[in-house]
Amino acid sequence: MKNILVVNASNRKKGNSYALEQRITEQLNGRAEVTTFRIGEKKVNACLACDACKAQHTPSCIQKDDFTALIPEIDSCDAMLILAPVHWDQFPAQLKAFLDRTYSFMDFTQPDLSMAGRKDKKVAGYFFCGFGPVDAYTNMVETNLKSFATAGFTETKAHVAGDANAPASILEKPDDLKAADEMVEWLLA
Ligand SMILES: Cc1cc2nc3c(=O)[nH]c(=O)nc-3n(C[C@H](O)[C@H](O)[C@H](O)COP(=O)(O)O)c2cc1C
Repeated sequence: MKNILVVNASNRKKGNSYALEQRITEQLNGRAEVTTFRIGEKKVNACLACDACKAQHTPSCIQKDDFTALIPEIDSCDAMLILAPVHWDQFPAQLKAFLDRTYSFMDFTQPDLSMAGRKDKKVAGYFFCGFGPVDAYTNMVETNLKSFATAGFTETKAHVAGDANAPASILEKPDDLKAADEMVEWLLA
């Protein structure tokens, strides 16, 4: 069974990321081992850029917070699914902090700059926005997802659901739900 890490980066508990998290968790039940990391309920500090992690060749961080505790799971999972809102045309702040902290996987002595134990993992990003340009946001998500390659996520897939301001409105959008279903199958494949 695949081991899938679901990262929910919304603070809106009745919102779209939470609604889709519930639907996808039900779909994955019995088909994958799922670990859910809801960033809003966790402590994910900013990267200190202290380079303490560069003194070693396995991923680590001197900070004692929930990101550091998650490093082994990030390193060993088969795939990661990020569910998140677009905030001011970008990753929401806590998710950006999460991405920054994957600097702890960067190894300048390696040709691919990565000390990840596994480098064959998939990362999918399913994002929601209210009014912005879906094409531009999809590019933004794809660009950011590529940065997870340092942590060993070398295959990426992105989807942005537009016109999704109303809480849980994703559940009434057949095309976006189909994209979510396809994303789940891609993660499991
Ligand atoms: C602080 C903040 C910034 C936002 N910025 C944007 C934005 O730049 N473009 C956009 O289309 N929607 C923006 N939105 C709307 C959210 O992306 C949208 O409501 C989304 O569905 C929220 O997802 P969630 O319910 O999973 O939290 C913003 C919402 C908030 C609270």
